[in-house]
Amino acid sequence: MKKANRERLIDQAARLLTSASAVVCLTGAGVSAESGVPTFRDAQTGLWSQFEAEELASPQGFERDPGLVWRWYMWRLTVVEAATPNPGHAALARLASLCEEFVLVTQNVDNLHEQAGSADILHLHGSLLHFRCQVCAQPHRLTDAERRRQLPPTCARCGEFVRPDVVWFGEGLPWQAVEAAFVAASSCDLMLVVGASGLVYPAAQLPLIAKQAGATILDINLQPGPLSSIVDLFLQGKSGEILPALAQSVAWLIQG
Ligand code: OAD
Repeated sequence: MKKANRERLIDQAARLLTSASAVVCLTGAGVSAESGVPTFRDAQTGLWSQFEAEELASPQGFERDPGLVWRWYMWRLTVVEAATPNPGHAALARLASLCEEFVLVTQNVDNLHEQAGSADILHLHGSLLHFRCQVCAQPHRLTDAERRRQLPPTCARCGEFVRPDVVWFGEGLPWQAVEAAFVAASSCDLMLVVGASGLVYPAAQLPLIAKQAGATILDINLQPGPLSSIVDLFLQGKSGEILPALAQSVAWLIQG
């Protein structure tokens, strides 16, 4: 995007944001990419272009080879723990403080939004930093020794394997977060989608619901995607560059 065009679009987006009374922001892996957390579907660097989702992120995969799944999640945990929020995360926390009502919904399993100061985040796909028993769901506090083990630890209550508290393929989502996200999407007047491919449901349904309810849809992404047909304003580029400029423009508009 050319600089002048980008500035014009950011200004337009900022005006839409300042005139909205209820904003919902949906983030995907793209928002954490500049922090060094791999996305899922980007060519070469995306996790699903290097690893088998079915083997590593499904209940059947865990059943077949719990050790393999455990070690892969311990690697992902290390990557996430080494990452720090980027200017995009910080700008979303700033935007929340500038908007009348701002609900942050994420598909990400990292905690970079929290680290950047966002609060009350609706995590649709769980968290890489939390663990629970795969059978009785008892929460489990991970020890350093357990991280290095070849097999998952076992549940203190029932003795079954412990797993990461993330949503795997074929599993239901945490219903409270999903319900709150759908309510927010159907009653917002602007939805900001950031770094989400729009390929994974039910998260990808949220912008469609918002659009049907009359909301304006803003999209920040490196490239157009399946949501493009319903997007009112597309800001093409890195979220870590666009979001800080957007938050700054909103702040200037508010200050008059
Ligand atoms: P994807 O990897 O499918 O898509 C990432 C999106 O971010 C793509 O549209 C990229 O173009 C865009 N992107 C990459 N870098 C960016 C940047 N710096 N700035 C802006 N955009 C950027 O990730 P998600 O859509 O989040 O589910 O994937 C959804 C779900 O699929 C994940 O939560 C995960 C996965 O399977 C589960 O694990 C349940």
